[in-house]
Amino acid sequence: MPLSRLRVLLVDDDEDDYLILRGQLSDAGADAFHLDWTPEYDRALGSAVAGSYDVLLIDYRLGARTGFELFREATARGCQTPKILLTGQGDRAVDLEAMRLGFDDYLPKADLTPSVLDRTIRYAVERRRAVLEHAKIMEIAASREHLALLGEIAAGVAHEFRNPLHGVLNCVQILRSRIGNNPDLARWLDTQEEGLRRMDAIADRLLRLGRHELGPLLPSDMGKLIEDSLTLIRPRAEKEGISIRVERVVDLPAIPMDAQRVGEALLNLLTNALDACKRGDTVEVGILATPGEPGFATITVTDSGQGIAVDLQERLFEPFFTTKPIGKGSGLGLALVKRIAESHGGHVDLTSKAGQGTTVRMRLPLEVRLAPTNEARG
Ligand SMILES: Nc1ncnc2c1ncn2[C@@H]1O[C@H](COP(=O)(O)OP(=O)(O)O)[C@@H](O)[C@H]1O
Ligand SMILES: [Mg+2]
Repeated sequence: MPLSRLRVLLVDDDEDDYLILRGQLSDAGADAFHLDWTPEYDRALGSAVAGSYDVLLIDYRLGARTGFELFREATARGCQTPKILLTGQGDRAVDLEAMRLGFDDYLPKADLTPSVLDRTIRYAVERRRAVLEHAKIMEIAASREHLALLGEIAAGVAHEFRNPLHGVLNCVQILRSRIGNNPDLARWLDTQEEGLRRMDAIADRLLRLGRHELGPLLPSDMGKLIEDSLTLIRPRAEKEGISIRVERVVDLPAIPMDAQRVGEALLNLLTNALDACKRGDTVEVGILATPGEPGFATITVTDSGQGIAVDLQERLFEPFFTTKPIGKGSGLGLALVKRIAESHGGHVDLTSKAGQGTTVRMRLPLEVRLAPTNEARG
C-alpha cells in the first residue's frame, strides 16, 4: 500500500540511541519513515507546537528535563501530534504515569525491534487521525444543532415580540385619527410608525428564518420574477451609478415555486450585490440551464464589487453573520436565501475574490422536489 512517508521526530539526548533507532526504522521499511533527531528540549517543543511531524518519539530523560515535561508543555500549547514515550528500561511507574498523562504509547528501548517500532508508530498515527476526524464531525454536528436552535429561539422571540408591536402600531393609527390637523404631531407619528414598521420587518424575517413556512409551489415565470425584483432595486442602482444587466442564456420553463419567497431571495442577493458595489461597477443577473445537474435551473447574481476574503466565505450563510455596520446589515439575508433554496429542494453557493467581485448561484429544481426539512411542519 503506497503510504505517504511519516515524518518522525526523535527527541533524545543520546546520539547513540538515535543511530540505533535510525537503523531499526530503516529495517522497518526505508520508504515508510522520515526520521529527524534533536537532543534539544526547546527545538523539540517548537516543532511539536508547529505540528511539523506526524509522530513524536520522546525519551523519558532529556538532560535536566523529562519527556513528561515536554509532553505537558506541548499539549498545553495545543500540540495534537501523537506522542510515544521511550524509556531506558521497563519501569512500571513510568509506564502508568505516561498512560495517565495521555501518551499514545510507551516503549522500553530494550524491547524495540523494527516491527514493533513500525507498528507502534503507524497505529498511533492512525488512532490519532481517527480521533481528530471524529472530533471534527462532532463539532460540525454541534454547530448545525446550534444554528437550528438559534433559529428557533429567534423565531420564538420574534413571535412574542410581534403581538405587542402590532398593538403599538394600532395605537399609532388611532392617535393619527384623533390628532386632527396637527402637522407637527403627525410628523412625530410618522417617525414612530416608520421605526415600528422596521422592527416588524426584522421580526418577520426572523420568524420565517426559524420556521419552514412555504406556500404552495406554483409554476412561475422566473424571468418575470427577476424583472419584478429588478424594478425594486433599479432606482437605487441608478442613484449609485451601478449598471444592471440581465443575461438570459435559456428560456426556462415555468418553475414550481413559492414566488414570493424566491422573489425575496432574489432581492436579498441583489441588495448584497449593490452593497458590495461602488460607482461604475456592474451587477449581472443570469438565467442558465445547469449542465452538470439536469433538471435544475440556475440563477446567478454576479457583481464586480469588493468581493469577500476566502477565510470569511464559509461563514456567510450563518444567520447573524455580517461584515456590515450596525443598522445596515442583519446577517440574515444569505441565511434566508439558503433556507428558501433548500426548502424548494435546491441549493446556493457563492464564489468570490476579494477586490474582484462575487457570484452567487441559486439552483432550483424544474420539478417539485421538496427538501426533507420542508415536510416537518414548523
Ligand atoms: N455580493 C457580495 N459581495 C461581497 N460580500 C458579500 C456579498 N453578499 C454577501 N456578502 C457578505 O456576506 C455577509 C452576509 O450577507 P447577508 O447574510 O446578506 O447579511 P447582511 O447583508 O445583512 O450583512 C455580508 O455582510 C457580506 O460580508
Ligand atoms: Mg444581505
